[in-house]
Amino acid sequence: MKRIVVLVSGNGSNLQAIIDACQQGRLNGSSIAAVFSNKADAYGLERAREAGIPAHALEAAQFADREAFDRQLMLEIDAYAPDLVVLAGYMRILSPAFVSHYLQRMLNIHPSLLPKYPGLHTHRQAMANGDEEHGTSVHFVTEELDGGPVILQAKVPIFADDTEDEVVARVQHQEHAIYPLVISWFINGRLTMRDGAAWMDGAQLPPEGHAFE
Ligand code: GRF
Repeated sequence: MKRIVVLVSGNGSNLQAIIDACQQGRLNGSSIAAVFSNKADAYGLERAREAGIPAHALEAAQFADREAFDRQLMLEIDAYAPDLVVLAGYMRILSPAFVSHYLQRMLNIHPSLLPKYPGLHTHRQAMANGDEEHGTSVHFVTEELDGGPVILQAKVPIFADDTEDEVVARVQHQEHAIYPLVISWFINGRLTMRDGAAWMDGAQLPPEGHAFE
């Protein structure tokens, strides 16, 4: 039974999908030990409290710099002794010390088919470029923003008359399926990161990760 700590900044719909997966026994008896946010009003914290999970907020304004904020966050996270740290819409740049502390045991979900569109406004960029396909990627976190080894991607179509909200909703629907799945692989010891790559069942995954149909 493994311990997961989740970091959020906003709505927390991916957090909810992970809570649901835990409650439905899809994560092999693992539990979310705590949820942290850099925003005290993040709805994700409310979701955690409703599920009986300790929920904490740290405000950046109370720290001298990014390093000091991350040092405190690390201390508080480590009090829960997590096996895995899951970034679920955590909208804050991580310091190198934070990344290296959780290297090989920290995941992120990013709403694009990486390496396309790292950073913000991915849906808008895909639509502006006339892409007919968009999606989401789960990856291990490294120092490169949205640049760590991809584990799994899910694709969605973009239709000519789509609004941005429709594309976001289509992508999120996939996110709620693939994030708990990848977490279950990690928890069951099937998924690791080494030599800068993601490995599944002893085989190195290709750059686009495991195919998800
Ligand atoms: C998700 O689309 C995720 O890909 C991105 O931020 C969004 C968070 O949504 N990193 P939610 O807070 O989980 O609803």
